[in-house]
Amino acid sequence: MPIALVILAAGKGTRMKSDLPKVLHQIGQAPMLAHAVQSGATLEPERTVIVAGHGADAVALAAGEIDETAQVVIQSEQLGTAHAVDQARAALEGFAGDVVVLYGDTPFVQPETLERMLTARAQNDVVILGFHAADPARYGRLVMAGDQLDRIVEYKDATEEERAISFCNSGLLACDAQTLFDLIAQVGNDNASGEYYLTDVVELARARGLSVTAVACDEAETMGINSRADLAGAEAVFQARARAELLEAGITLIAPDTVHLAFDTVIGRDTLIEPNVVFGPGVTVESGVTIRAFSHLEGCHVSRGAVVGPYARLRPGAELAEDVRIGNFVEIKNAEIAEGAKVNHLSYIGDASIGAGSNIGAGTITCNYDGVMKHRTKIGRGAFIGSNTMLVAPVTVGDGAMTGSGSVITKDVEAEALALARARQENKPGQARKLFALLKARKEKRNQEAG
Ligand code: UD1
Ligand code: MG
Repeated sequence: MPIALVILAAGKGTRMKSDLPKVLHQIGQAPMLAHAVQSGATLEPERTVIVAGHGADAVALAAGEIDETAQVVIQSEQLGTAHAVDQARAALEGFAGDVVVLYGDTPFVQPETLERMLTARAQNDVVILGFHAADPARYGRLVMAGDQLDRIVEYKDATEEERAISFCNSGLLACDAQTLFDLIAQVGNDNASGEYYLTDVVELARARGLSVTAVACDEAETMGINSRADLAGAEAVFQARARAELLEAGITLIAPDTVHLAFDTVIGRDTLIEPNVVFGPGVTVESGVTIRAFSHLEGCHVSRGAVVGPYARLRPGAELAEDVRIGNFVEIKNAEIAEGAKVNHLSYIGDASIGAGSNIGAGTITCNYDGVMKHRTKIGRGAFIGSNTMLVAPVTVGDGAMTGSGSVITKDVEAEALALARARQENKPGQARKLFALLKARKEKRNQEAG
């Protein structure tokens, strides 16, 4: 059965108190909308329609990055969830199959749950996803009649008796597209909110003699995000899940609660992650790597056997080959570090390539920026860069070359050459003794004057 996803994301999210549309707030460093699209993607949808409203331009831009095939439709006035789904009508013209409605602010619905909804769909015309709420609060209540769902009553419209029901509506729904749009056309707005409720399709379907059921899922999956506190709670849920998945996959986290992961972090088995490591987006780490404490990684790749940190920073475009060593207070950006090379202390390597087995001394800086443009530094294989070398790019250091400590290298160094670019040392015999005596006398005099 072909599937089309309709993801509702037009709401304002007033309680976020933000200029950013709610669905673009991030969890695991991806917009919550991306999480909703990702869980829906497991159904291999033929079409994905995102209904945007508040901040529609920003949502459309983000939607293009999340899934370039997604269509974005605009709901210019938020007249209710049925009205929102109705905005997808034209985008789904000619589509024959099931529509699955998701919410952009409900990011944690599990793929298995969506599968269960579709399984139930095989026997029913309409399937609603429900959950048993610990605190049903203001959720819509599911009024069951045996194994059929009789109707959904919104909290505002419910009687005391209906409010006592704890089986609640998550908002997710699956239904044949044609049937759904026919039913939506009949939905009115004569209710406590004056809105077009998607939940009304249940009663309308039943009136037509169609079968409607509700599938239950874990309450944690339907967690909606309405405030910054909810967002922080959702982040905690995401992190807990992501850490558990890594542990399950054979990665050692010494202090899992202190490791922060992104939505797309990939780590190979037998890698060891020490405490307080942060992963930004776009990081892949192979097997048998050690990431030591307090390191920060984003947009980078770390190959087998490498050791990174403690206190290392790998920025976008850092590509570490096998057995590379990156030590404390070292920043690497847009640079390839070839097999077995070492950058162990207090260095900045940006817009550079470093050949296999080269050793970069403490305090080495690639001066990659001239105030206007960025330039590259190339270092060959087996080179030795002396401590505190400034490499003023664009510059090339050949295979097996050396630079003397403290050099400011502005010209290319050919293979196997030694480059010295610093003032020549001069020793003055006895001069230190004289200078000490002079300084001590001055201090004595000053103390006497002060009484
Ligand atoms: C809705 C359900 C309720 C359910 C609850 C679960 C209805 C009438 N009620 O209520 O039964 O328990 O969700 O969280 O469906 N949206 C639009 N356009 C609109 C209105 C809403 O895109 O015109 C989007 C929102 O951005 C949000 C979702 O639809 O993602 C739900 O809207 P919301 O206003 O939060 O509905 P609730 O009142 O919470
Ligand atoms: Mg809501």
